Amino acid sequence: MPVINVTVNGTRYEENVSERLLLVDFLRDQLALTGTHVGCTYEGVCGACTIHLDGEAVKSCLMLAVQADGHTLTTIEGLGGDKLSPLQQAFTDNHSLQCGFCTPGILMNMSEFLRDNPDPSDDEI
Ligand code: FES
Repeated sequence: MPVINVTVNGTRYEENVSERLLLVDFLRDQLALTGTHVGCTYEGVCGACTIHLDGEAVKSCLMLAVQADGHTLTTIEGLGGDKLSPLQQAFTDNHSLQCGFCTPGILMNMSEFLRDNPDPSDDEI
C-alpha cells in the first residue's frame, strides 16, 4: 500500500492507503473527520464532500487519497480554526443550516468564493 503525507487542518499525517481509496473515505474513515459528507454516492454532483486542497475547493469524492499526497487540506472541522469562521457564525446566527447534511460543502464552497470575491454583488452570489 502506498504511503501518503498530507497536512489536514494543520496536522501532518503519514498514512498507508489503498490505491483505490477515495479522498472523502480517507478523511471520514481513516482520519475520523466525518464533517465531510457523501450526498450523491460519489457521482460528483452534490458538493456535500467539498474540501479545500491547497486552498481551492474540490470535491473529495472525485479524488483518490493518493492524489492528495504532499498537499494541504482543510475540511469543515478546520475551516474556522478553534472557533467558528465568520461564515459559520453567520449561518448559525441566521438559522441557515436547514437539515445540515450539505452545509459543510456549502460552507467550504462559499468560503472560497468569498475569499476571492469579498464584496460580491447579488448577481455574483
Ligand atoms: Fe456528491 Fe461528492 S458526494 S459531489
